[in-house]
Amino acid sequence: MKILLVGSGGREHALALGLQADPACTELHCVPGNPGTAQIATNHAISLTDNAALVALAKELSIDLVVIGPELPLVNGLADQLRATGIATFGPSKAAAQLEGSKHFAKGVMRDAGVPTARSFTCESQEEIEKALDTFNAPYVVKDDGLAAGKGVVVTDDRAIALSHALSCKRVVIEEFLDGPEISLFGISDGRNILPMQPAQDFKRAFDFDKGPNTGGMGAYSPLPWAPDEIVEETYEKVLAPIIAEMAARGTPFIGLLYAGLALTDLGIRVIEFNARFGDPETQVLIPRLKTPLATLLLKAATDSLDDVALEWRDESAVTVVLAAPGYPDAPQVNGEITKLPNIADTQIFHAGTAQSGGSLISTGGRVMTVTGIGEDLTQARDRAYRAISQIELSGSFYRSDIALNASVAEKGN
Ligand code: AMP
Ligand code: GLY
Repeated sequence: MKILLVGSGGREHALALGLQADPACTELHCVPGNPGTAQIATNHAISLTDNAALVALAKELSIDLVVIGPELPLVNGLADQLRATGIATFGPSKAAAQLEGSKHFAKGVMRDAGVPTARSFTCESQEEIEKALDTFNAPYVVKDDGLAAGKGVVVTDDRAIALSHALSCKRVVIEEFLDGPEISLFGISDGRNILPMQPAQDFKRAFDFDKGPNTGGMGAYSPLPWAPDEIVEETYEKVLAPIIAEMAARGTPFIGLLYAGLALTDLGIRVIEFNARFGDPETQVLIPRLKTPLATLLLKAATDSLDDVALEWRDESAVTVVLAAPGYPDAPQVNGEITKLPNIADTQIFHAGTAQSGGSLISTGGRVMTVTGIGEDLTQARDRAYRAISQIELSGSFYRSDIALNASVAEKGN
């Protein structure tokens, strides 16, 4: 099977490794890819938003399966155009990707499907905004309705800050604050069936102990030794399966990866958000743990054939830590030289914001690399990830030192 993978982040490098490890994958191409994917696939320098060029490339290469990583091409309708030419595609249509593209849309689907989430109002005027803020009170949760590259959500006790963010959005969703630990739980769907993956936890704030600004994610780990045993089954029954059924009933089946961001509250699980794609950096811990051959799995999802498939997992734990450029997330500095990449057993370096330039590896984005450690338990996986990331040199770069720390301590107490 010839596969074309769209995207260039750490997530895509992890997916590329998973796809290539499946013997069914005979040829792997990436658009645009990164220096990491270049080591295991053929990269093609085409823009993520150039649907016509992407479809033409897939045809020219006689691609059997396209896997779309990031949200932008999904919301741009790339999957629709590929399917229209008969190419099997893992990734939702433009209509189904609205689960990520519009918070208001996602709330409506959850309402119709009976999926538990925060109570909310969608507002378009100052009067509506102020009424919603005063209904829920602090902490205020204010979400830009549209895609905002991780900058759309403000959670604050300060009403003036909440109001000013709300007024800066064209359409805004204001919702009640959900109290409880957050987890990410993904499902792989063919539009009718959805296979839940194991849960992971992401660290969204820039600095240790959840200080600093929100980011795309600074690290992740899986499994979650502290989470209730029934969390996967419960999320399947209360969230994943009803959403897939509702999207199918609307005539816009969701084919691809449904990302549920959940809060485990005292009242039970609540959906914080949906994404229409694999999470980054959660993918960098889930793919190394997944035993089921990835290329075959995603082809089955893309061709409505998941009926008899069950996912298999390795017993090992995985911890991933993001190496961030100085100034990330507000004003990341790029073009720094990256040296001393270690080669340590049971670790994997995933490239994200990197490029080759005149024989050197340089930084090109805020999240530069993700380093995953695999081990018998989280403690060992963590030690390996940190041993590897601490050796990488990039001037001014930083990483959180507390990824999976609490969970690894709790695990020892078990
Ligand atoms: P998002 O950009 O949608 O991933 O949201 C960013 C972060 O905002 C989430 O990871 C949560 O930590 C927080 N958040 C979003 N919605 C809520 C909510 N209703 N209650 C509490 N925190 C929230
Ligand atoms: N890790 C959060 C995301 O992928 O959106």
